[in-house]
Amino acid sequence: MGRATAVAHPNIALVKYWGKADDKRNLPANPSLSMNLAALTTVTTVEFRPDQASDLVTIDGRPAAGQALERVVAHLDRVRALAGSDERAWVASRNDFPAAAGLASSSSAFAALTLAATQAAGLSLDEVGLSRLARLGSGSACRSVPAGIVLWEMEDAHQVAPPEHWDLRDAIAIVTGQAKAVSSHDGHALAPTSPLYAARLAAVPEWLAAVKDGLARRDLAAMGPAIEADALAMHAVMMTSRPSLLYWLPATVAVLRAVRAWRDGGLEAYFTVDAGPNVHCLCLAAAAGEVENRLKAVPGVQQVVVSGPGNGVRSVNQHLF
Ligand code: PMV
Repeated sequence: MGRATAVAHPNIALVKYWGKADDKRNLPANPSLSMNLAALTTVTTVEFRPDQASDLVTIDGRPAAGQALERVVAHLDRVRALAGSDERAWVASRNDFPAAAGLASSSSAFAALTLAATQAAGLSLDEVGLSRLARLGSGSACRSVPAGIVLWEMEDAHQVAPPEHWDLRDAIAIVTGQAKAVSSHDGHALAPTSPLYAARLAAVPEWLAAVKDGLARRDLAAMGPAIEADALAMHAVMMTSRPSLLYWLPATVAVLRAVRAWRDGGLEAYFTVDAGPNVHCLCLAAAAGEVENRLKAVPGVQQVVVSGPGNGVRSVNQHLF
């Protein structure tokens, strides 16, 4: 058992995963499709130590506690079971994006943890094996294992296009730095309580087909309406769950309306929103500067981060400790 470090990017889903078919195996109720975000990076170092009594975890320099720590320890337990070891680990994880900005995605966290921990434990998993294991830590993490644009269907996530296929951009409008009240981890369980849940699941195949087609032909106008429709349908499910989840802030709605007005004026951009209030605006590289400037001028937008398509999880030699 040794030490290893991995780098991963969070991904933004263009067709969302919301609700599970199997809670224990973390299987999704519907297929989802995402793009890794090159501009946002998580680095994680794991070292197993025979003399340590319990797992020690720091995230952005602070000791992890509560549910965050429990989820990391549970994931390390999966790796220990595979390696046939009971050594405890020291884990340090760092995000190069503001942790308080509501972008600290569990997707990059569990993708990086999976590669670093398996390598530190002396295991050598292939991409499918890493992706399946990452999925058990956090569903969307399986999509951060392969590079570029990734499709997740039930057990496996695989690449549908490499990062260089198309220079799409995601301009992320950050409207709050506060952590969300209900994590997506807990939110999935509420999805079936919405009367709109089944309706969204029935509509996903058509949206997924439109997004795949637009991607294949590098045609944003062919996929944008489906991306927006799916995000709005997911939030409709969230809002109508019992208890209701309302992730949007006034500034979220201001950005959604602004994006549609810009489009009417000829600036091609489409929005999607995860389980939080920040808005992701998809556009072509040539329009990214203009979209970024306009987003910054929307009242309530605190910061804008622009990202192109990113690589998959990989190991590096520079350790965090
Ligand atoms: O992987 P989780 O359990 O954090 O769920 C992710 C849920 C969404 O971000 C809202 C949608 C998605 O597909 O990424």
